[in-house]
Amino acid sequence: MTPSILLTVYPDECDAFGHLNQASFLSLFERARWEMLRAGPGMDLFDRTGAWPAVRRTVIEYHAPAFPGDVLRFEQDLTHLGRTSFTMRQVARRVGDDALIANAEFVFVCVNRGGRPVAVPKEFNDFMTSRRRHAGEVQRLAVNGVSLAVEVRGDGPAVLFIHGYPLDHTIWTHQIAALEGWCRIAPDLRGMGGSDAPDLGYSMETYAADLAELLDLLGADDVVLVGLSMGGYVAFEFLRRWRRRVRGLVLVDTRAEADTPEARRSRDAAAGTAKEQGAAAIAEAMLPKVLGASTLAGAPATVERVRTMMAATPVAGIVGALGAMRDRPDSTPLLAELDGLPTLVIVGDEDELTPPTQARAMADAIPGASLVVIRSAGHLPTLERPSETTDAIVAFLAGLP
Ligand code: MLT
Repeated sequence: MTPSILLTVYPDECDAFGHLNQASFLSLFERARWEMLRAGPGMDLFDRTGAWPAVRRTVIEYHAPAFPGDVLRFEQDLTHLGRTSFTMRQVARRVGDDALIANAEFVFVCVNRGGRPVAVPKEFNDFMTSRRRHAGEVQRLAVNGVSLAVEVRGDGPAVLFIHGYPLDHTIWTHQIAALEGWCRIAPDLRGMGGSDAPDLGYSMETYAADLAELLDLLGADDVVLVGLSMGGYVAFEFLRRWRRRVRGLVLVDTRAEADTPEARRSRDAAAGTAKEQGAAAIAEAMLPKVLGASTLAGAPATVERVRTMMAATPVAGIVGALGAMRDRPDSTPLLAELDGLPTLVIVGDEDELTPPTQARAMADAIPGASLVVIRSAGHLPTLERPSETTDAIVAFLAGLP
């Protein structure tokens, strides 16, 4: 969420029982939006630009009463931006006890003085984007029909971190913290972490389209892609569709080949296990494959962290990801076409899922790519050997033209 606005509840806004009443709540939501503009581009922004945001739809959920003297903290953000319309989500919490009082969604259409729809003013979008980029927290952003949990941190050129399966964006915690001077964007892919997990709608194309819309929403025209394992498969799909938006590529413990027939069968078997026994069974099966022998033997906190992360993945997201991986195309023909795209391949020397020999062959097939092997790490070097992995990424980013 982006910076908040504080407003006090007055007695004349409350009903006979002393509760903040509905009409006054609506006006507090509106006041919070104006205060945000006052503190930013100015309350006359819409007058200046001749595009007035007319409310088209409002949904408010009331969770707890508020009373005179309560100070409410309003957090507000754009969750959708169209050409002429935008959706704003507002959340009101009581400062005293952090209780959630209400949350609301307002859909606006920008109209000119004649009442005709016009484009959302760019100045407004830029303002909301820059607030978002400075939020440094996990936000919920609506893209491509789902709401994604996304951590956005820092200013500068954009780096998009794409996690693997069945994981979430926190596998990049160390890298996100360290990459000063870059706008770090780390979403939970649909179906994983805190993002929506619809029952249908998973494919490499869909994951990549989610990310392209996310970058649009964050005003990031071009980006360095950093994809781990399944995140690499998504990065390949993104490159097939939006190559011109990519200025650098980091492939971590991933592969370009499609699944073999045997691997496809085991995806279906794993989907059956997930449906019958839940995510915990998947976590138990994956853990010894995902972590290297050194981590399994010597880093119990990391083992527990990864186990918990995997076991928290929604079953719909697991099944969806398995289907998307099973059906992904072979990306090896793409490798030679990456000529001119600065590329770094990273692999843990104990990775058994995508071993160093495979990483080396992939790096050799990408013109100009370099390879870094991280010692004593398995399939998740970002968590198993965070400093070494971060150093490799920092050095690569520093060398970008
Ligand atoms: C991942 O880490 O994303 C998966 O292991 C990839 C895969 O199963 O192919």
